[in-house]
Amino acid sequence: MGQKSTGPNLQGVLSRWGNDKNKLHAWIKNSGAFLKTGDKYANDLFNEYGKSNMTAFDGQLDDKQIDLILDYADKWVPATPVSTSIGGETKESDNTLLFGILTLILAVVAFTLMQVNSNLKKLSDDKEGVPAAEPIPVWKNRTYLAFAAIVLVIIGGYLTAKGAIGFGRNKNYTPEQPIFYSHKVHAGVNQINCLYCHGGAQDGKHANIPSVNVCMNCHMTISEYKGTAKLYNEEGEEVNGTEEIKKLYKYANYTPGQPFDATKAQPIPWTKIHNLPDHVYFNHSQHIVAGKQQCQTCHGEITKMDEVKQFSDLSMGWCINCHRETKVQFKENGFYKI
Ligand code: HEC
Ligand code: HEC
Ligand code: HEC
Ligand code: HEC
Repeated sequence: MGQKSTGPNLQGVLSRWGNDKNKLHAWIKNSGAFLKTGDKYANDLFNEYGKSNMTAFDGQLDDKQIDLILDYADKWVPATPVSTSIGGETKESDNTLLFGILTLILAVVAFTLMQVNSNLKKLSDDKEGVPAAEPIPVWKNRTYLAFAAIVLVIIGGYLTAKGAIGFGRNKNYTPEQPIFYSHKVHAGVNQINCLYCHGGAQDGKHANIPSVNVCMNCHMTISEYKGTAKLYNEEGEEVNGTEEIKKLYKYANYTPGQPFDATKAQPIPWTKIHNLPDHVYFNHSQHIVAGKQQCQTCHGEITKMDEVKQFSDLSMGWCINCHRETKVQFKENGFYKI
């Protein structure tokens, strides 16, 4: 809509036909027959668009339906995006720094109290005439040394364990993709159903990634990005959507105006984001069909992400926690025909 593609722009078509509804009805119902009347405007159009006949809609559309479509085309205005905020990030609070500072303050307080304690002891010893032992410097004091050693072992152990557990986990992983393909634009603003592209999530183990053909179903006609929501990459640089669609055309081996030949298209080398270890059996269909889980529960607010990032840590604890809350109904869920 609003632009030329396979055919002319439908907006304002009635006025271009001199507001002659009868002529337009005849053309839409059977353009081949109408061309034979020798109408100059119709024949010019036919030549401009590569002499290919428009499908005849005789018997499928009556005059009233045609008028409704023309009216819709004339009144159409571009969709306004749902939101224009950048990224839609939700800041996760990170308390590590706070805890670090608190620990430091407590350590200083403890150290001061110990100093005060030993000074007081020295004072009272002096008073009672107990001979004072040689003062030991801090770095030779066994108590302090033992304390420092214990603290180091605890912190070191904690960091090692944390690193080992997190090994291979990639929460928030956002790789750069060959094409800046925005889920916010497609699944958010334009509300394309997830299953249109990831139908496998319902039917099988894997939620497949769509092939170039699926993209070209729409992008034969959408060659420019005209959305009002600006696109930004991870680094906050603005991305030109039209240039990104041109990259798609390169993979598709497609030149606008020419026919699209799916056999000449190259697959797009997308980088896989979610990766479970090989020994884990995870099945989308079980979770979507039998478990009735929403994509967003596990993948986050995809419709607000320009670039997909890994929302869950995909750890074993993550699987188990949810399974504790939702009991698996082996027989009752009907997933297995037993
Ligand atoms: C028009 C097609 C299309 C639609 C609609 C779509 N996606 Fe995608 N999706 C893709 C493509 C292409 C990729 C691979 C590129 C990328 O990661 O951005 C992808 C990647 C993903 C990934 C990451 C896969 C990985 O590599 O681990 C998830 C998760 C995802 N989509 C979920 C969704 C959800 C949830 C919805 C609906 C809210 C949705 N998608 C709608 C095309 C689509
Ligand atoms: C159901 C239709 C449909 C499908 C399928 C589709 N797109 Fe789009 N695409 C659109 C619409 C609508 C826009 C927004 C155009 C605008 O706002 O001007 C768009 C915009 C874009 C843009 C520019 C904005 C951005 O996201 O960077 C790119 C690039 C793009 N699409 C790539 C793809 C790729 C790659 C695929 C296949 C995985 C795909 N599209 C599949 C409809 C579709
Ligand atoms: C119960 C959690 C959960 C739900 C619900 C879920 N996913 Fe996934 N998804 C995952 C996990 C885990 C992976 C990683 C799978 C792997 O590495 O084998 C994944 C991977 C993906 C991938 C990458 C391709 C693949 O299959 O590995 C896509 C695309 C995807 N999900 C889309 C969707 C869509 C669309 C929906 C909703 C219809 C959805 N997911 C619902 C957990 C979930
Ligand atoms: C958000 C919640 C949630 C998360 C996260 C989740 N699951 Fe599930 N899972 C479910 C639900 C709900 C069912 C189906 C319950 C039923 O059958 O009634 C299910 C079913 C299953 C089943 C099938 C059990 C059977 O025999 O019917 C397996 C296997 C499974 N999940 C593995 C995993 C693994 C592995 C992970 C982590 C990678 C995971 N799940 C993460 C909710 C979750």
